[in-house]
Amino acid sequence: MTSDVTTGSGQEAADFARRTSTGLLQRVEDRLRSLLSAERETWAEVDERAVIPVDALSEMIASGGKRIRPAFAIAGYLAAGGDPEDPGIVAAGAALEMLHLALLIHDDVLDDSSQRRGLPTVHVKHMDVHRSNDWQGEDRRFGEGVAILVGALALAYSDELMSEAPASALPEWHKLRSEVMIGQYADVHAAAEFSVDPRLSRLIAKIKSGRYTIHRPLVVGAKAAGRGDLAPAFAEYGEAVGEAFQLRDDLLDAFGDSADTGKPAGLDFTQHKMTLLLGWAMQRDEHIHTLITEPGHTPDEVRRRLLDTGVPADVEKHIDGLVERGCKAIADAPVDQVWRDELAEMARRVAYRNA
Ligand code: IPE
Ligand code: IPE
Ligand code: MG
Ligand code: MG
Ligand code: MG
Repeated sequence: MTSDVTTGSGQEAADFARRTSTGLLQRVEDRLRSLLSAERETWAEVDERAVIPVDALSEMIASGGKRIRPAFAIAGYLAAGGDPEDPGIVAAGAALEMLHLALLIHDDVLDDSSQRRGLPTVHVKHMDVHRSNDWQGEDRRFGEGVAILVGALALAYSDELMSEAPASALPEWHKLRSEVMIGQYADVHAAAEFSVDPRLSRLIAKIKSGRYTIHRPLVVGAKAAGRGDLAPAFAEYGEAVGEAFQLRDDLLDAFGDSADTGKPAGLDFTQHKMTLLLGWAMQRDEHIHTLITEPGHTPDEVRRRLLDTGVPADVEKHIDGLVERGCKAIADAPVDQVWRDELAEMARRVAYRNA
């Protein structure tokens, strides 16, 4: 897209790239909202209760989120020289965010989480609705049932959106969708077993999170632009930066502030998630296993013990190495310099965030 632009100053080219991707991200936002408002209208005519699942999705969209997946799909697309006017990439970006909503809603049931994007999670909210109306049946079953359905609805909408994207991106989309489900299974399985296996922890970070967040959205973008040849470089970048993204998420769970993340703090301890952080820490201090699995400990005790092992600093170092690897992978990719710089900047943003 930029041969005439990149002949100007690097700064101009960077500003142009930023403006173009911001514009596309805004169109993703509009597409998400237009789909949900059309659905709401349709269902409002049927029955007032029928809009509730649609509204649950609109509330999640309105409550925040960083839109990382659409941003990487758009970056991959523009770096590959895709036409910014083509609505196909907007649909793909919206599909990725809609799929993400489905995953978050189901993830919060799997992880027994009470808060998402600063609001009660879908299952908790509907459990409360059930309880306060004194309805029939178990409130927890109702809340989790609603979350299963709202998540499945988001999954259906994501597919509908993706059908408007270039067909060349579909094989990558299919891989992305099934892979993340297997990744989530591996995550709950490892939490149940709770045996230390750092290799498995790293694999889980990638297949439940890094790939659907960074690696595959980038490739979806490149393929939508007809540049499948970029897939290997984007895969190498995305594998490293995707892992860094999830390791930061794990550190934020352990040491971050719930007011920033909009999620409960210390949930991975209560849910005995076999993260790389905990795995490495337990290799150095066996007592952490007992602290996590036996009732009566406070998250602060676990935090102190973790810090004493020195492992959080090692995870930080590992993240630094991953960011470096990601930047190296993109340094020689056949894309304009402006996109190499932008992707390096995006890698730092996702790896060193506080929310
Ligand atoms: C949260 O993803 C789920 C993970 C894969 C760790 P994000 O951190 O991108 O969440 P939002 O979309 O900004 O809320
Ligand atoms: C979630 O990982 C990954 C997916 C949503 C597929 P986490 O369970 O660590 O995400 P958070 O911390 O709840 O956002
Ligand atoms: Mg979770
Ligand atoms: Mg989870
Ligand atoms: Mg997490």
